[in-house]
Amino acid sequence: MEKEEIQLILDTARSFREILDRPIKRVPTLQGKTVVNLFYEPSTRTRISFELAEKRMSADIINFTPSTSSVKKGESLIDTVKNIEAMKIDMVVVRHSSPGAAHLLARVMDANILNAGDGGHEHPTQALLDMMTIREKFGRLDGLAIGLIGDISHSRVAMSNIFGLKAMGARVILCGPPTLIPREIERLGVEVSHHIDEVIPRADVLNILRLQLERQKSGLFPSLREYHNYFGITRERLEQASKPVLIMHPGPMNRGLEISSQVADSEHSVILEQVTNGIALRMAVLYLLAGGKSEIR
Ligand code: NCD
Repeated sequence: MEKEEIQLILDTARSFREILDRPIKRVPTLQGKTVVNLFYEPSTRTRISFELAEKRMSADIINFTPSTSSVKKGESLIDTVKNIEAMKIDMVVVRHSSPGAAHLLARVMDANILNAGDGGHEHPTQALLDMMTIREKFGRLDGLAIGLIGDISHSRVAMSNIFGLKAMGARVILCGPPTLIPREIERLGVEVSHHIDEVIPRADVLNILRLQLERQKSGLFPSLREYHNYFGITRERLEQASKPVLIMHPGPMNRGLEISSQVADSEHSVILEQVTNGIALRMAVLYLLAGGKSEIR
């Protein structure tokens, strides 16, 4: 995405954010539109967040659960979605374990497709809500130094953050063990460090990523304890920096591993604000995809 497009989404999300604080949290913006949530992979936050965003905008919603559908009988992804499309729906939110799944669907379907995470590839709405949260705190993204910490290789959140933050003019510093950072990733215009204590003083924000243990082969680091000792974000580590650093995590967290509980729950943590902003951000994306013409009321 280009800078202007990201800016439009973030600005639109900011105007939707206020609806979430109203006593009656519903606008008629997507009345008459039907959205299908197609989650082939486990999800808590993203699924509930999309669903709430759709409900807040009065869309009709279908939640599709592959484990109780004809997917079990061997139907392909394209056939499943083409059949759903034949029922005259407008948008599909898809999470799938295969990189490129959302793009594949976008090529073969007329309905609007939203990528809610495709394997280890991308998770665009997560990166957008991260950027929304950073912009809310600093008033800008341009010129800020954002540390993405931990398991970069298996993280779709990292990839989408890198593309988005670079487009917005931020500096991106990746930090983790060499086995968890793709070789030659500097070509994307990011810095790489393997020493967290050297990164913390230079960073305005640390976005701490979950160790994706389910996606890793064994032997990428000696033990969880060693990982925590070298890369875990703890209060002691943060106290060495002269200024406070904004703490983010896309969730779900492994407390005591990549992040200590003290840091996760500290006054510099915006982890739960990320979750709230996620709904406003997804409302904005749905609204813009639906045509974005009707007035926000
Ligand atoms: C992430 C995901 O599923 O990609 N979680 C999320 O959507 N908030 C990150 C993760 O699984 O670690």
